[in-house]
Amino acid sequence: MLVLGIESSCDETGVALVHWEGSALPELLSHALYSQIEMHQAFGGVVPELASRDHIRRVLPLTRDVLGAGARSLSQVDVVAYTRGPGLAGALLVGAGVACALGAALGKPVLGVHHLEGHLLSPFLSADPPEFPFVALLVSGGHTQLMRVDGVGRYAMLGETIDDAAGEAFDKSAKLMGLGYPGGPALAKLAAEGKPAAYALPRPLLKSGNLDFSFAGLKTAVLVQAQRMIAAGQSSRTGELAPAGQPTGASTVGFDKLPWSQRCDLAASAQAAIVDVLVKKSLLALRQTGLLRLVVAGGVGANRALRMQLDAACLKRGVRVHYPELHLCTDNGAMIAMAAAMRMQNGRQEASSSYAFDVKPRWPLDSIDS
Ligand code: KG4
Ligand code: ZN
Repeated sequence: MLVLGIESSCDETGVALVHWEGSALPELLSHALYSQIEMHQAFGGVVPELASRDHIRRVLPLTRDVLGAGARSLSQVDVVAYTRGPGLAGALLVGAGVACALGAALGKPVLGVHHLEGHLLSPFLSADPPEFPFVALLVSGGHTQLMRVDGVGRYAMLGETIDDAAGEAFDKSAKLMGLGYPGGPALAKLAAEGKPAAYALPRPLLKSGNLDFSFAGLKTAVLVQAQRMIAAGQSSRTGELAPAGQPTGASTVGFDKLPWSQRCDLAASAQAAIVDVLVKKSLLALRQTGLLRLVVAGGVGANRALRMQLDAACLKRGVRVHYPELHLCTDNGAMIAMAAAMRMQNGRQEASSSYAFDVKPRWPLDSIDS
């Protein structure tokens, strides 16, 4: 079976071809990605209408690219899969509309995929795929969830954020620091130069005993800490210049007035607070379920500090950790084609020849089969 997958839920247009035969793990033949980051950077975040219009421009050229790279023709595609939700409604409609139009024109069925299920199953595309059951830590720009995963489509929520997601905490803290959008990678880069224990920032719900998260207070704590540092005159009048090629950190709170080393220390402390909570709650989930396998997925899963600390903590406890390949941590079409293939292969869902599509901007992952 040849599956063409289309991802368009936010600011990345992704298209991929996945092939499977019998019970063997589906295999990625080719994938292509266009990131809109540069376009949205001028606005400091994703502009939904611009995102939708850009998906329209990119999706067919990318489809041609993956067919070429995979040495397949459109007529060989058996199923067209697309992200049905959650995400930006207009952006989702582009992928759904194109997938259903292609399906109708080719006389091939279509299948709508849950974006987070795509992330969750993306480690199966890696050289070291996991085995069921496992605990999944899903950390993206909009979601932070711990799930027990017993098989494809068998997901039980263990805990999730009650306010901001981990990615949002990275993005909002970075924005305060004038690091631009998307903030996660920029903050992580600055943090790599700083001392994680320099400033004590809150770790909310760390001792709650449950598996919920709360990150909304972190950006305020970062803001207050920065203001305190500026007011205390710890800074020189103009601050040390950022090394060439680094963001200047010009921001509304005057983060750019702080010496470079203090900016790095604050970034490192913010990252440490987020990572600390994610690691400790993941360990608690493993303890509570008695499982010895952890799968990390979603954009924040690309964070090096998170990977290093999870690896160290899990090694000590005899827990295996699996990640997606670095380039498949953030949004992409490969994970959508893969999730569609695994759902069909495992009898969780059949592709449909009704081309009356809808999208689900809000869609809890543990309710996909109900
Ligand atoms: O999964 P994803 O690509 O999109 C959503 O489904 O939301 O995740 C994007 C999120 C953003 O918040 C981005 O800042 C964060 O992942 N991110 C990172 C890193 N790379 C991406 N956060 C921390 N460190 C990184 N290296
Ligand atoms: Zn995502």
